[in-house]
Amino acid sequence: MILVTGASGHLAAAILSHLSESGVPALGATRHPIDTPWLRVMDFDDSGTISFAGVETLVLVSAGTAEDDVVINRHENAITAAERDGVRHIVYTSLADAGDHLGFALAHRWTERRLRNGTVQWTILRNGLYAELIGQLLAPRDGVIVAPFGDGGVAAVARHDLAEAAAIIAQTPEEHQSRTYNLVGTKAITAQDVADELGAEYRPGTLTDLRKALDSAALLPFQPPMLISIHSAATHGFLASTRSDITDILGREPLDPLAAAAAAVQG
Ligand SMILES: NC(=O)c1ccc[n+]([C@@H]2O[C@H](COP(=O)([O-])OP(=O)(O)OC[C@H]3O[C@@H](n4cnc5c(N)ncnc54)[C@H](OP(=O)(O)O)[C@@H]3O)[C@@H](O)[C@H]2O)c1
Repeated sequence: MILVTGASGHLAAAILSHLSESGVPALGATRHPIDTPWLRVMDFDDSGTISFAGVETLVLVSAGTAEDDVVINRHENAITAAERDGVRHIVYTSLADAGDHLGFALAHRWTERRLRNGTVQWTILRNGLYAELIGQLLAPRDGVIVAPFGDGGVAAVARHDLAEAAAIIAQTPEEHQSRTYNLVGTKAITAQDVADELGAEYRPGTLTDLRKALDSAALLPFQPPMLISIHSAATHGFLASTRSDITDILGREPLDPLAAAAAAVQG
């Protein structure tokens, strides 16, 4: 049996949909109690709630964004339970090769190391930034996008493609044992591209101005540095590499990231 964690999240829900469309039985796990036979209620913050009994393949969707110690503790609890419960293979949704400069990279790299040093077979999916996220970060106000994205490209990828890739791999995990796949988009999109797609104007901003705006927004303390790190890495060309395994895994070209970014803005 396959179990996908984080079932109420966008990525996990899409993975479960792909599995269902392929006729593959799968369970989900979520913190939110819903009376459905295919959902188990678990919270990785509370190791006592975690049970992977009967699960052969665990799709471990990274458990939210928070301070590193919080996310690492969640993943440690989940992997320890998988080892205890006899899970055969863990497919982990990590962060793209090029993501090392991002503020949330450390927890992903820690989890990868934990899996490599653990006792369960593993496959690591190094997911690129979602095209939908880039769209949300570049949403125009009154027809104008002001953001410190410079003219750096981002090899963004539609979340749908990442979900399909995870669903494909979860069905034959032994074929992907000890493999780390870089799943970024095959074209790098810029803020100007997004503006053109939306018929908006792009005015490059500064990191200082973004920091000021974030400081006065109602955000959690860890969020401003994470958001700044995305903008800085994009501006300075660290997210542009399109070296990707996504086409091989999907057996087709990925979806147009600009269309996915625009759809996320237009709702
Ligand atoms: N590549 C990117 O651009 C990008 C962007 C944002 C986030 N991410 C990462 O990718 C993951 C999936 O993305 P998404 O779009 O599906 O995010 P999302 O819709 O915001 O969902 C958040 C996910 O985190 C899980 N989660 C949070 N706290 C948890 C806990 N204590 N125990 C277990 N699970 C917990 C949620 O599970 P339940 O609510 O079902 O329990 C849910 O699956 C995120 O969690 C984040 O780590 C990647």
